[in-house]
Amino acid sequence: MATNRTFTMIKPDAVADGNSGAIIKMIEEAGFKVIAMKKTLLTPAQAGKFYEVHAERPFYADLCEYMSSGPIVPMILEKENAVLDFRTLIGATDPAKADEGTIRKIFAKSLSANAIHGSDSDENAAIEGAFFFATTEQY
Ligand code: PPS
Repeated sequence: MATNRTFTMIKPDAVADGNSGAIIKMIEEAGFKVIAMKKTLLTPAQAGKFYEVHAERPFYADLCEYMSSGPIVPMILEKENAVLDFRTLIGATDPAKADEGTIRKIFAKSLSANAIHGSDSDENAAIEGAFFFATTEQY
């Protein structure tokens, strides 16, 4: 995957609240092109695999339970400086600390139900994108 791509998931709380469309609109208006997208439901085991880098952290079980509690919308996005620009667009992990106008400030409910994920490096963006999408699903 090219280094101008990042990976995101709209999380169960935001999908359940009917905010997917508004969030995708913000993403596209910020200049990101959607390369791949679907709506899907993770099993707890799949969520555990996706987040296994956090397996030793105290919130791991809650995170996996939450991320398999309802449908999500994973996407691969493309833009210059995609990873960093997308982290800026979504705001801090804790919505209480997120800047005004960021996706998490607008849509997140709490530290765990924080509306959206964004990859933290080019390397992880490639790994996370490949977790959900075959190369033939990326346009
Ligand atoms: S980050 O973005 O990776 O720097 O954030 P981090 O603080 O390391 O958190 C990693 C992911 O775990 C989620 N998280 C939590 N879930 C449930 N409960 C608590 N207390 C909690 N703290 C952090 C956080 O939303 C991150 O999810 P992703 O999907 O990576 O954004």
